[in-house]
Amino acid sequence: MQSRQTILPKRLVAPGPDTNQLEQILEAAASAPDHGQLLPWRFIVVPDNARARLAQVFADALLQRDAEATPAQVAQAREKAHRSPLLMLAVVDAQHGNPDIDLSERIVSAGCAIQNVLLMATALGFGSALTSGKALKAQGLRTLFALAPQDHALCFISIGTVLAARPTRLRPKTSEYVHTLQVAELQGTCTVVMESTFTQRQGVR
Ligand SMILES: Cc1cc2nc3c(=O)[nH]c(=O)nc-3n(C[C@H](O)[C@H](O)[C@H](O)COP(=O)(O)O)c2cc1C
Repeated sequence: MQSRQTILPKRLVAPGPDTNQLEQILEAAASAPDHGQLLPWRFIVVPDNARARLAQVFADALLQRDAEATPAQVAQAREKAHRSPLLMLAVVDAQHGNPDIDLSERIVSAGCAIQNVLLMATALGFGSALTSGKALKAQGLRTLFALAPQDHALCFISIGTVLAARPTRLRPKTSEYVHTLQVAELQGTCTVVMESTFTQRQGVR
């Protein structure tokens, strides 16, 4: 878990996961918590023979946003579709099933599934990255991936062999993101205090 880090898609090269490894990576997603067992998320793999179509979508999306984009910028947008041996789009369905389970719960479940995918890829020795960008909302992308109106394209997931290792990121300390609800017994009031009740472990990465 602690060795997972983003390796940008341009630094992810062949070989990608083989069939068995891909199955393990995708099966890991199924262990995500899923309120109501709606299975609100899915992954759409972009095989090599579909990369050119995605490249066109990226180029069109850029030109729609910026008609003045230079040929070099358009070429760079296209090139993004060809990075990384395994490329998948993560999608969440905002509506199907129990309407009481709202979008935020569905996205949390999707995030857990995505993290499981990243962790399994890491455990198998691969590098990985999530990428987003304005093209996720482009009509051309929605059409290419046959998204329904209630579908949200969350991010792309790239997985491959790490071309060059990069230094690990310093992780936040638990005291930066864990607060404690404290009861003041006399007044019967509660306050959230910034200090974590956990003893900070030093040097954990
Ligand atoms: C939903 C999502 C989308 C992301 N999109 C991008 C992106 O478009 N470009 C990028 O460089 N990093 C992207 N990231 C990766 C973050 O930048 C990265 O996780 C962060 O820098 C922390 O680095 P780490 O993953 O090595 O801990 C995305 C992360 C998430 C969760």
